[in-house]
This record gives sequence, structure tokens and C-alpha cells, in this order.
Amino acid sequence: MITVSNVSLQFGSDTLFKNVDLQFNPGNCYGIIGANGAGKSTFLKILCGELKPTTGEVSIPKNLRMSVLKQDHFAYDAYTVLDTVIMGNQRLYDIMQEKDALYAKEDFSEEDGVKASELEAEFAEMDGWEAEANVSKLIQGLGLSEDLLYSQMSELSGNEKVKILLAQALFGNPDIILMDEPTNHLDIDAIAWLEDFLSEYFGTVIVVSHDRHFLNNVCTHTVDIDYTKIKMYVGNYEFWYESSQMMQRLIKQQNKRTEEKIKELKSFIERFSANKSKSRQATSRRKLLDNLTVEEMPASSRRYPFIGFDMDRELGKDVLQVTDLCKTVDGVSFTLGRNDKVAFVGESEQAITMLFKILMDEEQPDSGSVKWGVSTSRSYFPVDNSDFFNDCDLSIIDWIRQYSENDITDTFLRGFLGRMLFSGDDVYKPVKVLSGGEKVRCMFSRMMLFHSNVLLLDRPTNHLDLESITAVNNGLMSFKGVVLLSSHDHEILQTVADRIIEITPDGCIDRQGTYEEFIQWKKEQGK
Ligand SMILES: Nc1ncnc2c1ncn2[C@@H]1O[C@H](COP(=O)(O)OP(=O)(O)OP(=O)(O)O)[C@@H](O)[C@H]1O
Ligand SMILES: [Mg+2]
Repeated sequence: MITVSNVSLQFGSDTLFKNVDLQFNPGNCYGIIGANGAGKSTFLKILCGELKPTTGEVSIPKNLRMSVLKQDHFAYDAYTVLDTVIMGNQRLYDIMQEKDALYAKEDFSEEDGVKASELEAEFAEMDGWEAEANVSKLIQGLGLSEDLLYSQMSELSGNEKVKILLAQALFGNPDIILMDEPTNHLDIDAIAWLEDFLSEYFGTVIVVSHDRHFLNNVCTHTVDIDYTKIKMYVGNYEFWYESSQMMQRLIKQQNKRTEEKIKELKSFIERFSANKSKSRQATSRRKLLDNLTVEEMPASSRRYPFIGFDMDRELGKDVLQVTDLCKTVDGVSFTLGRNDKVAFVGESEQAITMLFKILMDEEQPDSGSVKWGVSTSRSYFPVDNSDFFNDCDLSIIDWIRQYSENDITDTFLRGFLGRMLFSGDDVYKPVKVLSGGEKVRCMFSRMMLFHSNVLLLDRPTNHLDLESITAVNNGLMSFKGVVLLSSHDHEILQTVADRIIEITPDGCIDRQGTYEEFIQWKKEQGK
């Protein structure tokens, strides 16, 4: 059991949350939800002890083991996959190391023998003999081959590393599992596996996510962080959503009735206060009026940014010609016209990311060619934006200034950032402390400043809250230029794209029409 008592957190003058009292119990899965920047990741850091709260404390019984899904994809490059996963249970890993060191000794003493037998006993108790088999089971569940066990982490692709880090977090039955947006980098099959795993988990699972589908499938409780309050509800995301909508409707209706009553009383008082015979009635009604209050709607940090793209220059007839491109996949060819909004789909997201990088000249193909039309100007939203923010000491306003070609005045940039929900002193925040979603909002601001006529977006809604996803969706729908898009979000694919290109291991399938028409067509083809 985790007990949170009177926890508050402040960064400078900003209060993220205050006086939080909560309890997390075994067998439950808690979904932490809230707007980008509400404080979800910060709250997880407080739970795992990485960050000290401004007031209050978190208490966790000493005998419980907690594991946290790591985000640093390079931290284990020097280790094998097997060792990396076992490190999820640090004590077990340490015992294995100590044992190996003892047995490797040339002058193995009696004392060493005693130590070794102690270690062996603890090792057996921790199910050490099963460790390798368990690791193998975990990584196979995530769709990886057990041949990888002895590979070096540095040899793995980004996608594989994400899965190994997930296996690390789940390894050895921790009592408490903390995860921050675990589904962001996973493919659909791995997400389904994780959902099953978590649904049946005996321990306490606390997971931050913006993925509604995932939250609905795994969560027994919903923890909403909104406007300095953290509230816990029994039930999954859908239940929370419906009930919070209903509460708001009730308050609104109640307020409407109260307002009507107030109006009626006021006009009565006006009419009769001059009239002596009625003045007593008017006085008593005034008292009634004083007692009527309109209930305040709870303030919320959920807000919609404005995302819209306009282009400096109209597109000519030739936009893009890709001929027989080969790299991770073979034989990709297509030609885009000036009205195309294309969704790129396919089993291998890495192949799509690679294609986008080649189109942006960040990677070279093994063979084939890419030819952009002379009238085109491109903006690219990469799936991984860490290069733009890591080791960057700029404030938000100075960061965005780098990308503004026409107007670099504070007034212009502040206005622009305001629409992206960075207002007041927010603009002086260093970009490196920004939350995942705030960084994505910065990336969109940057793209909007380019006024390009072709947009390439590689999974642009990762990290974003629902309000921002809607804003991106609307922005792309009303954009007049060409869009190349990859996404997990069914809705955005359906509403933005009018052409679908599926990248398969041997070439591509290219169909005009919507995403749902494409799925239907594939069904009919029996694919
Ligand atoms: N060291 C810091 N100094 C000042 N502000 C900070 C610091 N760390 C985080 N913040 C701010 O605190 C807020 C909460 O950040 P956090 O990362 O917890 O948000 P989040 O709810 O996880 O958002 P997202 O959904 O985008 O991941 C953000 O506005 C962020 O900019
Ligand atoms: Mg976060």
C-alpha cells in the first residue's frame, strides 16, 4: 500500500498540486490522467522518491519492491539484453554478480564458502534459477525473439529497446509498478499484450497515459490531476469521463435555475420596494436573494491550443516523386499531387520513420530516388524530438525565436506562444524542464512558423492530451497543402487522409479514399 499524505508541489511560484491525500492498494491499476503539463510525470517522480514534495510525504512499506519504467534508451548500451532485464530486480542482479565474483576467485576461502551458500539461498528464494526462462517469456510476449537474450543492448533498434525496458520494469513480480506513457512507443500487438499482463497483475500498478483505449482496458481506478487538485475515482477512463460530464451538466442546470430565480427576485424587489404595503415582502425576498449562490464551476487546466498552418507559396503540379526506394523495405514508389493528404500505414513503424527521414534527406536510401517539386517547402515533425531539447539552455521564447524568419519581436512571439497555451511567465521557462506534451506544443509552434506547403508528421499525437489532439486534427484538416502522416490515432487518420499508402516488406499498396475505406477494402481482399 502506498499512502500519500498532504503532498504539495511547487516549482517557483507555480503550484502543481496541493494537500493531496491518497491511497494506492494492491490488485488495482490506477490510471493517472490530466492535461499536458498538469503534473502527472512530476507526481510519479514524487511517488518513486526521485523528487521531494514541497510539503507532505509518501510512505511505502519497506518490504515492498517498486519498479519504474525507464525512459533513457541508452542507459544500458553496455549490457546484454538478459542482464538489462534482470536488473529490473536490482537485488537479484547484485546477488548474481557477487556469486560470479566469488566463484571466480582463485583463493576461495572457508569464509567465501559461507558467503556463497548464503547468496545461493537468497538466490533460490528469489526464483533466481528461473530468471532466464522468465526473461525469455517476457520478451517473447512482447513480440521479440529469444535469440536476442545475449545481444548487446547497443545493437538493438529503438523499438526493441523500448520493449526490453518494459520487460525490465515488469521482471520479477515487483509489488509496485510505475509507468509513464508506456504505450507511446509500442506497436499494437505489444500494447494488447501489456493490457493483458496488467489486467491480471497482483501488485499495485500506477500508469500515466493519454491513450483512452488502453486506460479503459486496464484501469480499475482513475486519478485525475486538474488545476492543483488530484482526485481519485473508482472505475476506468470512460466511467470517469461520463461521470465528470454529468457532474458538470448538473452544476450548469442548477446554476441556470438559480440564475432565473435571482432574476425573478430582483425584478420583484425593484417593482415593490417603492410600494409601502409590499415592502416587507420585498425585504424578505431580498434576504432570500442573499442566500442564493451560483455554484462555481471547477476550474480546469484542460484547454485547447490553436494549431493552424498557412503556406507562403502555392504548390505547383509536381510535388514529390519517389521511385523504387530501397532501405529497410524494398521497392517503395509513389507520386504525390498537390491535393494529397496521405496516411502512411504498415506493420513496421520503423520503416515509415525511415521513409520520412529519407524524404527529409536525413538518411540515404540503399537505392532509388526522391525528387521534390521546385515549388515545395517542407516541415517535418519527427517522432523523437529529444535532439531539439536535450542540453538546450534556452527559454521557450528564445527557443522559438530561432525559428521565426519574419518577426522576432517579443510581442509577436508572445502572442504566438499564447495561442499554444504558454502565457505570462511561462515563456521564460527553460525548454529542458518542459513536460512531454509541452515539448510537442513547441514543435508544432516551430512548424507553424515555417509556412511550408508540405507537412511530414511522424506520429504527431504521441504525448498530447485530448484537447491538443483535437487541435492538431483540426489544423491538419483545414490545411490547404500536402500532408504525409503516420499515426496510431484512428480518428486523425480517418479525418485527415484521403489517400492511404501501406508500406509492406515488398513495396507499397496505394489507394485513394479514406482510412476506413482502406480497412474495408483490405478485409474484402482477405488481407
Ligand atoms: N524543474 C522544473 N522547474 C520548473 N517547472 C517545471 C520543472 N519540471 C517540470 N516543470 C513544469 O511542471 C509542469 C508539470 O510537468 P509534468 O512533466 O509533470 O507534466 P505532465 O502532466 O507529465 O505533462 P505531459 O502530459 O505533457 O507529459 C509543466 O508545466 C513543466 O513545465
Ligand atoms: Mg508527462
